[in-house]
Amino acid sequence: MKILILFSSRDGQTREISAFIASGLREKGIDSAIHNLHHLADVPWEKYDKVVIGASIRYGHFHPTFKQFVNKHAAALNKIPSAFFSVNLVARKPEKRSPQTNSYTRKFLLSSPWRPNLCAVFPGALRYPRYRWLDRFMIRLIMKMTGGETNINKEVVYTDWQQVTDFMEDIAELTSDLSVK
Ligand SMILES: Cc1cc2nc3c(=O)[nH]c(=O)nc-3n(C[C@H](O)[C@H](O)[C@H](O)COP(=O)(O)O)c2cc1C
Repeated sequence: MKILILFSSRDGQTREISAFIASGLREKGIDSAIHNLHHLADVPWEKYDKVVIGASIRYGHFHPTFKQFVNKHAAALNKIPSAFFSVNLVARKPEKRSPQTNSYTRKFLLSSPWRPNLCAVFPGALRYPRYRWLDRFMIRLIMKMTGGETNINKEVVYTDWQQVTDFMEDIAELTSDLSVK
């Protein structure tokens, strides 16, 4: 069995989560291939048994390339078992961490032609020192308004790795009749 893992990431957290999932699958003896969706020309879908796609949010939106990819490949994606995870900072609040309560994820799923069989929302990372000054300023403002970390010298990873592990287990269990065993 081979699983394709694709990610759409700006600052690396979605890539890191994808690598974590790949490593968990490897430990279970499941082979996977991991690619940056932004650098992908074409996809040999027939080589894969399942697909996982992760994408992050910036200023309220997924990257347009991710949405174009999903629209272009929706038919292929709907033919094999698939999983989607979104990554954002609103999800640092547990009540905003489900596909139904995370508005970015809910809106995407409502408008997308792709119907993933599994979906998760993961809190991402806040890495002030790595941002350009305007991004740092904007994120700090949002954090101030929403009661989050405002110390610009800090890097905080909110990702709950146990939640990612549980998702990885569900991916491993996802069967070709498109349900989790
Ligand atoms: C410039 C910028 C804008 C962001 N905008 C949002 C946002 O609108 N909503 C949100 O929940 N998180 C937002 N985030 C947080 C990111 O989603 C979070 O840092 C995530 O880990 C990024 O994943 P990536 O490193 O894979 O791109 C923003 C982060 C940055 C740097």
